[in-house]
Amino acid sequence: TAKKWEISAMCSMQPAMASESSLKILKYGTNPIDGQTTGTSGMRKRAKVLVSNPKFLPNWIQSLFNALGGRDVLEGTTLIVGGDGRFYNTVAAQTIIRMAAAHGVKHLVIGRNAILTTPAVSAMIPARKAVGGIILTASHNPAGPDGDWGIKYNTGAGAPASEGLTDKIYQETVGINEYFLADLGIDINLSIEGTTSFADGAFTVEVVDPVAEYCDLLESIFDFNDIKKLLARSDFSLVFDAMHASTGEYARVILHEKLGAPLSNLLNEIPLQDFGGGHPDPNLTYAAELVRMLDPRQTPDAPQFGAASDGDGDRNMILGRGVFVSPGDSVAIIADYAARAIPYFRGKQLKGLARSMPTSSALDRVAEALGIPVYETPTGWKYFTNLMDADRVSICGEESFGTSSEHIREKDGLWAVLSWLSILAYENRDSPIGSLVTVEDILVGHWRRYGRTYNMRYDFEGVSKEAGDHMMNWLREMVDGVAPKHPEIAEIDEFQYKDPIDGTVASQQGIRVTTKDGGRVVFRLSGTGSAGATIRVYFEQYQKPSSSFTVKDPKDVFRNLVKKAMGFAKIPEITGRTEPTVLT
Ligand code: G6P
Ligand code: ZN
Repeated sequence: TAKKWEISAMCSMQPAMASESSLKILKYGTNPIDGQTTGTSGMRKRAKVLVSNPKFLPNWIQSLFNALGGRDVLEGTTLIVGGDGRFYNTVAAQTIIRMAAAHGVKHLVIGRNAILTTPAVSAMIPARKAVGGIILTASHNPAGPDGDWGIKYNTGAGAPASEGLTDKIYQETVGINEYFLADLGIDINLSIEGTTSFADGAFTVEVVDPVAEYCDLLESIFDFNDIKKLLARSDFSLVFDAMHASTGEYARVILHEKLGAPLSNLLNEIPLQDFGGGHPDPNLTYAAELVRMLDPRQTPDAPQFGAASDGDGDRNMILGRGVFVSPGDSVAIIADYAARAIPYFRGKQLKGLARSMPTSSALDRVAEALGIPVYETPTGWKYFTNLMDADRVSICGEESFGTSSEHIREKDGLWAVLSWLSILAYENRDSPIGSLVTVEDILVGHWRRYGRTYNMRYDFEGVSKEAGDHMMNWLREMVDGVAPKHPEIAEIDEFQYKDPIDGTVASQQGIRVTTKDGGRVVFRLSGTGSAGATIRVYFEQYQKPSSSFTVKDPKDVFRNLVKKAMGFAKIPEITGRTEPTVLT
């Protein structure tokens, strides 16, 4: 049977013809364009590349739609579109809207000004029974005409696309010869909420408030009244740094309007297309302004709590007055308190916990205390989502500032912030004004009970691919016994993961070394870089709990281990580097 939308003429770069349906579908000839490599974080490119080649985006979108199964799968569906607010997003959105219409999508939901954080999209996809979501983001990479642009796809569960799907998208990009757009006659006004209907409702575009649905979800998880009471205390104050990216919209509604934080305590809360020239990656290096504000030595009346998110709102950093909560401690403490402090989990037994292999083992000790399983997965959020879909895991986190729970299938920056505020509200439920239980009290309390897992990460960015591979291969020779183990090494192996749900095996997921004095070092190559290689070296040392607990600086703790690791991995010899480019 002939399909309604079938096209009977072809003509390169010329509007071809109207289909029999009332939506006019145009077909364009095209050729594959190099460099459309797509991974779980999608495709990332310099914005200039897209601006200078108007076929770059349509090629990728057509490849995505083909990989999903084309009109047969998309006909009649709902699709969510949003992004981190960066340059080119609103332009890209108009193309995506036309291409979605051309492939039979019935209802397209898009955030105002094309803004929706990654966690908001992840929440909205299943809630609206959408086929999936397109997120216009290069996460924390700098934005603007000279910055990066990016696009990724999340599945019907709201989870990052699987490797199978992203490989398929890439395969489509290398064989593409045509793409389809619907001629809608107008651009959608993305700055105003409302629904525009085409062809008697055959296709509708709904511009929505980016925050409302996501905020409803958070309100069902946390007790906003308890948090509001904490924020109203005269001995408590909070600052949140939105780093001029998408979370500014969310912070204004959730932290200010709903929870009562003064607007003046939200930093950089206006989303800008170039993120104000900044690098919205919430860590000690890129959120230096916030770190300084929280340091009582530099800011006399430093606030009690500070937090930041990245460009698309999935990462988080938590600070207390004068203290940094490492991501490994953060997820462990949230898990420990969840059943007491977070209404969603109250009184329930957590199903299990999970962390990526290079992430601190602090979480394992909490799992043991709670009597629940803990999973050690390769780096990448998709490994957690499999476990969540199978009801194995409730809370998980990664050293790369990602923390979240089973409420969505993505990491969630504001969820982590509200988790910490809930813990503080819980600890301070009866504390008189003037005797606030602080973030530092909670951290030290955790270390006293469980011991402290010190962590540090060295990044060697911009190393050549050859040098990166050379170092990994050299370590592999020790793993395989081809080269003798360095005398400082007690054990060395390469991490491999067998997914307990689908049995798939992920190999070469990082080399783990334990040294004779009990330290752990992990070596892996970053999977998210855009050029050359980035070597990541993760250090870990466990200090047992004791009453005479001393707080040490991780840099001092790791001085010896760093020296040893640089030696046995031959980093200076192979890369020519003696110092990391980033230290966290
Ligand atoms: C992305 C993923 C995270 C992962 C991180 C690792 O942000 O969403 O799940 O932890 O990449 O990046 P890397 O550069 O270390 O491979
Ligand atoms: Zn991100």
